[in-house]
Amino acid sequence: MNTREGFSNRLGFILAAAGSAVGLGNIWKFPYETGQNGGAAFLLIYIACTFLICYPLMVGEIAIGRKAQSDAYGSYKTLGNKKWGLIGLFGIICGVMILSFYNVVAGWAFGYFLEISFGSLLQEENFGNFFGSYVADVSDNLLFSLGFMVITAFIVVRGVKGGIETASRIMMPLLFFILIALIAYSLSLPNAMAGVRFYLMPDFSEITFETIYSAVGQAFFSLSLGLGGLITYGSYISKKENIIRSASMITIMDMSVAFLAGLMIFPLVFSQGQEPAQGPGLVFVVLPGIFQSMGPILGKIVGGGFFLLLCFAALTSTISLLEIPVAYLVDQKKKSRKLVVWVMAMVIFLVGLPSMLSQGAVRIFSSLPFYGNKSTLDFVAEVFSDISLPLGGLLMSIFIARRWTFSAFSDEVAEGNPKYKGSFVEKYIHIVIKYIAPVALGIFFVLIVLEKIFGMQF
Ligand code: PFF
Repeated sequence: MNTREGFSNRLGFILAAAGSAVGLGNIWKFPYETGQNGGAAFLLIYIACTFLICYPLMVGEIAIGRKAQSDAYGSYKTLGNKKWGLIGLFGIICGVMILSFYNVVAGWAFGYFLEISFGSLLQEENFGNFFGSYVADVSDNLLFSLGFMVITAFIVVRGVKGGIETASRIMMPLLFFILIALIAYSLSLPNAMAGVRFYLMPDFSEITFETIYSAVGQAFFSLSLGLGGLITYGSYISKKENIIRSASMITIMDMSVAFLAGLMIFPLVFSQGQEPAQGPGLVFVVLPGIFQSMGPILGKIVGGGFFLLLCFAALTSTISLLEIPVAYLVDQKKKSRKLVVWVMAMVIFLVGLPSMLSQGAVRIFSSLPFYGNKSTLDFVAEVFSDISLPLGGLLMSIFIARRWTFSAFSDEVAEGNPKYKGSFVEKYIHIVIKYIAPVALGIFFVLIVLEKIFGMQF
């Protein structure tokens, strides 16, 4: 008998899945991508993609996992065959690669928490310079990202209910609260409205192909979609769960946090006269300014609190990323959970070293000649996330349409939601998975490959 452990109830699952979704993607990546890609126009495409394409695919991913009761590879294999299982395997590899660089950025966030709360970061004069030398400093980064991976592993060893769920339950609401408080503060600063305009009034002339594919990649990354993480979590929920409702709540929570993070950052960027398109350092450079202006004591408390919460948000995501290969090895290779967790955690940490050293510490990693002299971290993030996750979504939609069939898919979603069949939502989801997602994501994929690999410009 398969005695899979499960989440204790609906809220447990939603919080864990929303915890996976909400992370550095919302608070670190989303603002800098928005800043680099023209502000409001990017936001608009990201929101459209989230609702139009990602939401139906999320329902698909959760349904696959719940039906098959297995990990990402095992689920495709059970409902399809070994060949279809390759989609799951591809997702697991993406999960490993994403975690390898994600953990590095989480280490920066942890370092900032310490430097703000207990160090002298808030006395700096130039936060841009500070960030540059901070990420190039190997010793701190090694220590903190190793620490982050160890904490992640500890929680994942404890399993679904004990570890993953409890962690999410506490951290998510706290994060929301501090974001709202910081938004109120940042909106009250001089020139804040210029930031609000940049963020909310679209300038369509800013849209390029890069804007579109960054927004699509961001939508998938932010929702933890396209690599089998939601298959894995879906396999832990009961048949009573209403997948449609859970997926809506996860999507809305995730989008709200990203939206709020933007609303917090851009007024600050403009009130400090900073450049919105400065890239991955954005939140690390801009936020300390606001904490500094709060005075030494309050600044340490609020700033430290903020980065600590960012670490928690990142932790619920690293947990879910580590769970993807772990579930695979436990389910398919029948290995002990504890052993697999520690081995995977250490392997992934090592795989992440070139990304860690790519921020100025080691020249070859910092500027890859075969990849437009971008850093290894950029390379891994673009290849395994921006490009691969939409591809994973595309392959999943083909799997549902061609192999699993829409009627079996509908039967699964209707469990726990008797009104689903014949509803408008059902038709909408089918149309997206059958036509819109394969066509749109297929075109994107071809164009991205032409641009990234063959250097064509659109
Ligand atoms: N969604 C997470 C974030 O926005 O930070 C990142 C992520 C977690 C991606 C888990 C993929 C995943 F499976």
